[in-house]
Amino acid sequence: MAKKIQAIRGMNDLLPAQSPVWQYLEGSVKEMLAGYGYDEIRMPILEQTALFKRSIGEVTDIVEKEMYTFEDRNGDSLTLRPEGTASCVRACEEGGLLYNQTQRLWYTGPMFRHERPQKGRYRQFYQVGVETFGIATPDIDAELILMTARLWQQLGLSDAVTLQLNTLGSNQARADYRDALVAYLKEREDKLDDDSLRRLETNPLRVLDSKNPETQALLQDAPELHDYLDAESREEFDTLRKILDAAGVKYEINQRLVRGLDYYCKTVFEWVTDKLGAQGTVCAGGRYDGLVEQLGGKPTPAVGFAMGVERLILLLETLEVIPPEVMQTIDLYVCGVGAGADLAGLLLSDRLRSEQPWLRIQTHCGGGSFKSQMKKADKSGAVYALLLGESEIEAGQVTVKDLRGGTEQQTISQDELLGWLTDNMS
Ligand code: HAM
Repeated sequence: MAKKIQAIRGMNDLLPAQSPVWQYLEGSVKEMLAGYGYDEIRMPILEQTALFKRSIGEVTDIVEKEMYTFEDRNGDSLTLRPEGTASCVRACEEGGLLYNQTQRLWYTGPMFRHERPQKGRYRQFYQVGVETFGIATPDIDAELILMTARLWQQLGLSDAVTLQLNTLGSNQARADYRDALVAYLKEREDKLDDDSLRRLETNPLRVLDSKNPETQALLQDAPELHDYLDAESREEFDTLRKILDAAGVKYEINQRLVRGLDYYCKTVFEWVTDKLGAQGTVCAGGRYDGLVEQLGGKPTPAVGFAMGVERLILLLETLEVIPPEVMQTIDLYVCGVGAGADLAGLLLSDRLRSEQPWLRIQTHCGGGSFKSQMKKADKSGAVYALLLGESEIEAGQVTVKDLRGGTEQQTISQDELLGWLTDNMS
């Protein structure tokens, strides 16, 4: 036998048994986004490498270590998108969506990062991203956060997630703070590990993210970002907090939250859970007022976030909050044995579909005994099996068997079936 070819590490198939949960989550998110008046945008998964280098930042983990970059047949450097914000800005600019307009957009699809795979961290993973353009005031930051809080509520996740909130201030404020932090850390260089020493040279704010307990202890007395904030950022952050307070959305201010992508300014936030181990951030984002200009457009305020679909699915499963009806994907299983049963089964199913399009019907194909067909009916998850034997077919009848207990098996005319199903299933 030929050797089997396996999937690429960190890139997972989504098998049929998992699809209903994905559809449930994606459906809930789409419904919510429609409820807030957001429009869908779809971008390609490949972009020019320069797009990500210029937006995410040359000295970030993503660009330095994690991108899937290759030369195509023309010798152009292309990259599988590691995130959606840069592509979304490029697409909006190219499509003329940012000229004197506001936009509220969302997208979904796979993203690619060459990270070390573990639970909740994959090399191909799915995000739902939401981006807004042209609105400079913090009411829109608040709307995005309220939207996510509503989603957690709807999905039954509220008790398992907390909101971490910070403001990075204007670019100038951040630069001043960076200088102060570098001066502080340089005096204590001998206590820093290699990773922090490297970050100190390339991207000092990322030292705040260090997982090393010694570094965290050292940071206790370091200069605080909020002491360097400009008045505008401070006021906007206060307004955001007031709206969240009034709406009853709880949050923790975390001055160490700086995010791993360079384009952020002012508001940044992360929804985190302690139920998934190390990969606990399920949704993250913030304001990126400078990015459109950095990519060649006119200065345009922007704010958005992205949620990790796999992590949210893991959380739904861990908390066991998936409604049982989500997993039930078939209502009726139509079985038939004897002369003409295959034709009768297909015709009956078709008639039911025409008359009641909401019914989900699987018609048995491939023959076999009643017993084997009933086994399949049971495994399908259907609520009722409809049985067609020769006598039923001749008399224009059908036998209805309740697969989940409850009602007695009964034989009724096919004309009556529809009324019976409406009475018993809706
Ligand atoms: P990010 O924090 O890099 O932000 O990713 C957002 C979310 O994607 C994370 O919180 C996590 O749930 C999920 N995620 C990231 N990497 C992985 C991975 N390797 N495996 C599984 N899930 C993962 C961004 O991507 C920004 N574009 C968000 C944004 C939109 N900011 C403004 N607008």
